[in-house]
Amino acid sequence: MSHRSFSQWMGDIQQRTEAALDRALPAADVAPERLHQAMRYAVLGGGKRVRPLLVHAAGQLVQADNARLDRIASALELIHAYSLVHDDMPCMDDDALRRGKPTVHVEYDEATALLVGDALQTLAFQHVAEASLCDDPVRHIAMIRQLAIASGSRGMAGGQAIDLASVGLELNLSELEFMHIHKTGALIRASIALGAQCGRPLGDEAMATLDHVGKVVGLLFQVVDDILDAEADTATLGKTAGKDAANDKPTYVSLLGVSRARELAEEMCQDALASLAPFGDTAQRLSELTRFIVRRQF
Ligand code: IPE
Ligand code: IPE
Ligand code: MG
Ligand code: MG
Ligand code: MG
Repeated sequence: MSHRSFSQWMGDIQQRTEAALDRALPAADVAPERLHQAMRYAVLGGGKRVRPLLVHAAGQLVQADNARLDRIASALELIHAYSLVHDDMPCMDDDALRRGKPTVHVEYDEATALLVGDALQTLAFQHVAEASLCDDPVRHIAMIRQLAIASGSRGMAGGQAIDLASVGLELNLSELEFMHIHKTGALIRASIALGAQCGRPLGDEAMATLDHVGKVVGLLFQVVDDILDAEADTATLGKTAGKDAANDKPTYVSLLGVSRARELAEEMCQDALASLAPFGDTAQRLSELTRFIVRRQF
């Protein structure tokens, strides 16, 4: 059990993630300069880095090597950042503010925002395909495949499609859960699963338990995002508050109200913590992070 506080640990991982992303991204003076500048603008200097934190927390379960975790963490954050750039475009949520700055299509232009997303996604795969990530080529290919599924039409992109198709509709709870598990849950789930594959191998039962934790934490992450969209203010969030209602999106808040949504998030948190209990001290950071995700203010 580490006696470093959670906030110190979080600060350390955020710092090393920033450095890893800085190394992963092409320099701003490399041609095509404007695209590279916009990619760096989208990724660096902001965000909570929850997916990298999950990768490192899961890595603690298997005593994983930090350099490998940095590589997976960067890939997840690059895909997440791309999803935000596209999510904010006028054809999707039409948002002008992200991470306290003008969105990429506002600061640059729409075509650049589109290309930033394309290029960040392929950069992520370039990064996980580095031979040093894994000694076992069969496991390595399986990890790349897992990231592809989590990002694509059966994962995040599919969830985003459902989100857009649901504007103005009243989804029931299981439809809403299905959407959230895909649009946000898939990358969160993959963060935990991939982090846990960077060290000593876990058995099938432990991996299945972690997959359950990933699914619950992923869903709970988006439930809290829905609550914050309704309750927090723009300055705290660094993105425009109240957008879900303004865009007529079905959310946990529109379906259940804030207080029931909060109760549900707390129940999911307890479910995840109970599932992590058998891992003992090795799950310390993952448990702390789960609590942070449910209690966060932005
Ligand atoms: C926001 O994600 C979009 C969702 C998937 C809910 P985050 O809340 O992780 O955003 P950043 O990375 O901290 O900006
Ligand atoms: C976005 O969900 C999920 C993604 C895959 C990017 P939201 O549309 O609720 O995210 P925010 O609130 O704009 O960050
Ligand atoms: Mg959206
Ligand atoms: Mg949005
Ligand atoms: Mg939101």
